[in-house]
Amino acid sequence: MNYLIGIDVGTSSTKAILIDENGKVMLTESEKYPMYQPHNGWAEQKPEDWKKSAFTVIKRLVKNSKLKSSDIKAIGLTGQMHGLVMLDENGSVLMPSIIWCDQRTEKEVDEMLDVFPKKKWINITANPPLTGWTLAKILWVRNNRPEIYEKCRHILLPKDYIRYELTGVFATDVSDASGMQLMDIRRRDWSDEILNRFKIDEKMLGKMHESFEVTGSLKADIAKELGLSKDTLVVAGAGDNAAAAVGLGVVKKNRGFISIGTSGVVFVHTDNPIVDMGGRVHTCCHAVPGAWHVMGVTQAAGQSLKWLRKEIISLGDYDLMNEYVEEIPVGADKLIYLPYLMGERTPHLDPNLRGVFFGLSGIHSKKHMLRAAMEGVAYSFRDCKEVLSQMGINTDEMLICGGGAKNNIWCEIVADNYKSILKKPESEEGPAMGAAILAGVGSGVFESLEKACERIVKIKEEISYNKDNAVIYDDYYKLYKKLHDDLKEDFDLLAGL
Ligand code: XUL
Repeated sequence: MNYLIGIDVGTSSTKAILIDENGKVMLTESEKYPMYQPHNGWAEQKPEDWKKSAFTVIKRLVKNSKLKSSDIKAIGLTGQMHGLVMLDENGSVLMPSIIWCDQRTEKEVDEMLDVFPKKKWINITANPPLTGWTLAKILWVRNNRPEIYEKCRHILLPKDYIRYELTGVFATDVSDASGMQLMDIRRRDWSDEILNRFKIDEKMLGKMHESFEVTGSLKADIAKELGLSKDTLVVAGAGDNAAAAVGLGVVKKNRGFISIGTSGVVFVHTDNPIVDMGGRVHTCCHAVPGAWHVMGVTQAAGQSLKWLRKEIISLGDYDLMNEYVEEIPVGADKLIYLPYLMGERTPHLDPNLRGVFFGLSGIHSKKHMLRAAMEGVAYSFRDCKEVLSQMGINTDEMLICGGGAKNNIWCEIVADNYKSILKKPESEEGPAMGAAILAGVGSGVFESLEKACERIVKIKEEISYNKDNAVIYDDYYKLYKKLHDDLKEDFDLLAGL
C-alpha cells in the first residue's frame, strides 16, 4: 500500500496528515507556535518555529505509523498565504516573517499605486495592491530595513520555506504565488513587467509550478532525520485556501466553501479569472490546472474568538464556550461585534479598521460577547456573499471547514446568515488533506485530481438554516453594515493619533 503526507503550515499550528492510497486518514498531528504583534496592526511569526514544528509532526507521523519508510511516496505542502520569508546567500533566515494579517504597509501600497494605476494592477495580478500581500511587505523591508534587503537572496512563502528545508529546492505553486502580487494571473507565471519595474530579480523567487507537480525529493540527511526515504517526492502544493478546496472536492465550477480558520474565507471555484474591479474579493489561480478561484477574506475570524477567550474572558474550555453561546438568543440581546481586529479585507480593504462591540448594556455577559463575536464573523461572510453575487458568482453547493467549523453552533449561525445549507466533510483537516491529495496526484498514486476528490471526499453532515433566525439576522446585518459606514472616518482618526 502507498501512503502520502500533507503538511499545513497554519497560523496557530502546523498540522500534518497521513493518508493511504484510498484516501483513508491514518493519522494526524499538530504542533502550535505563537504569533507576535510588536505593534498595533503588525503580525509576525518565526520561520524557525514553522520548520521545527513541521519536522516534529512529520517525525511523529512516521514513527506512529510504523510503516516502512519506502511506503510513504510523497509529501504535499500547504500553508498560510502571503507571508514573507527572506533568506541570505547561505539559505539562513534574515528576519521574522511578516505574515498575511500584518497591516503595516499602507505607504508601500500607495507607492505601488504611484507606479501603476489600480486598473493596471488588476489587469495583471487580478487584484489591486493590498497591504497584506507579499510585494507590499517586500517594499516595506526595502524601505525600512535596507540592510536586511541588501543581504536577501531568496524570497519565499511559508510552505515554500519548508520545501527548501526539506529538499534544498526553491520553488512555489501558482495558487500561493497568486497572493504575492508578482504574477500575471492569466498566464499563471511571474509578471516580467512587475518584476522589472520593482527591480526584483526572478532568481530570488522560486520556480513556478502547477500545484500537483513534483518539485524535488528529500535531501538525504533530512530523509534520515525524519525517518523517510530520500526518494520521497515533494510536490508543489498550494496556498491553504486552494488546498482546502482540493481537500473538500471544490474542484468544479460553482462549488464553494466557507472556512473558519484564524482568517475567514468564502471561496468559489471558477473556470476563468473573474475579477472585481473594486478588488473587494481576491482572484487567484486555483490548485486545479486551468482553473481559478475567487475568495472573500475576513481578517480575524477564529482570531476574534481566540482573542476574546484569551485576552478578555479567560476561557480555555471550548465546550463551555459553545454551551454559553447556545444560551444566548439570536442577535445576542442587541450586541453587535465588528471583527476588525487586524483591519479588514472584504469588502472594505482598509487596514485602519479596528474591532468594535456596539450596544454594550448592563445585561450583557461574556456569553453575549462570545455569541456576538461569532455573529459578527457570520455578518462578514455575508459581506463576501453580497460581493460575489454582485459579480454574478453563485454556488450550487457550499461546504464549511476550518477549526471554527468544529463548532456546530457557529456553523448554524453562519448558515442562518448565508441562507444556505452548509455541508461538513468527514475529514476536518481541509488544507492538509488537499496537500496530501496533490501529493498523490503528483506521485502517480492517484489517477487525477478530480477522480481522487470524487473518491475520497465524503460529506459527514449537513447544517440546514433556520428561516426565522435568518429574518432576525437581516436587521442586525443592516445595522452591522451601517456601523462600518458611520465609523469609517473615526477609524482613520484613531489610526492617525
Ligand atoms: C488568504 C489569507 C488567509 C491566509 C491564512 O488571502 O490571507 O486565508 O492564507 O490562512
